[in-house]
Amino acid sequence: MTDVLDGVRDHYRATGLTERLKTALMAFGPEKQRLMPQQLAALDQFHTRGLAATAELARLAGIAADMSVLDVGSGVGGPARFLAATHGCRVTGVDLSEPFVDAARYLTERTGQGERVSFETASALDLPFDDGHFDVVLLQHVAMNISDRARLYREIRRVLKAGGRFAIYDVVLNDGEPHYPVPWARTPATSFLLTAAATREAIEPAGFRNVAWRDDTEAAKGWIAELRASGPPPSPNLGVVMGPDFAQLAANLGRNLMEGRVGILSAVFEAASVNT
Ligand SMILES: C[S@@+](CC[C@H](N)C(=O)[O-])C[C@H]1O[C@@H](n2cnc3c(N)ncnc32)[C@H](O)[C@@H]1O
Repeated sequence: MTDVLDGVRDHYRATGLTERLKTALMAFGPEKQRLMPQQLAALDQFHTRGLAATAELARLAGIAADMSVLDVGSGVGGPARFLAATHGCRVTGVDLSEPFVDAARYLTERTGQGERVSFETASALDLPFDDGHFDVVLLQHVAMNISDRARLYREIRRVLKAGGRFAIYDVVLNDGEPHYPVPWARTPATSFLLTAAATREAIEPAGFRNVAWRDDTEAAKGWIAELRASGPPPSPNLGVVMGPDFAQLAANLGRNLMEGRVGILSAVFEAASVNT
């Protein structure tokens, strides 16, 4: 288990990330200038279809202003900042990668959202929150790094209120072995993809009832086709976060999608009452 977590940490090590971001963000103006969360979308929405996917998942989950939201595996914090700015909710992010959490805090200072959005370094398998604390938990492009899905989903159920919502946006296994490296793993040693059906079978026993289910594979393929035609977004983009090989990682995700090896799943589950 620890070996796996160390392997995942290594993949997202991002040494010197905050300093690199400071330099890259000079493209948007001086350090003191406040940034809009959406301006950062090319570098802080670390998942297939970027900002559009976060906006759709938030709608599917029914996020509203009075809610307290937990973003598990929050990366450099783009989804958390977008949700707080768009829906007015409070968002807490947790991530295994210290450099990502440091960068998420820095970017949140730059967007002036420190009162509504915060980040902590923690494992999704051991969440540092009381039982029944959150109205919504989001898990976007994280589960594929986690082998112990039963523990992951039990832990998420534990921190959710009864009747709360759990929204997932996952890369899922489809037909055949993926080509590596991919954006979430440079080798299969830290990649634990499940099929869409197996994902649901792992989630429901933790105390969840499915309320929304959407196969987003075709939309993702359309996005890949557009990217291939237009080229990657101008810098600063996710290459600043993941390093010079990001173009290759992203190209392999595209190839895996186009060859039908992986798919993309959006789903929302409701937390059942305890003991039901
Ligand atoms: C592909 S990124 C997605 C980041 C973010 N959810 C987004 O969509 O922008 C995957 C993130 O999951 C985090 N992660 C992977 N395994 C984790 C674990 N066991 N606990 C907490 N975070 C984890 C990684 O550090 C990384 O930031």
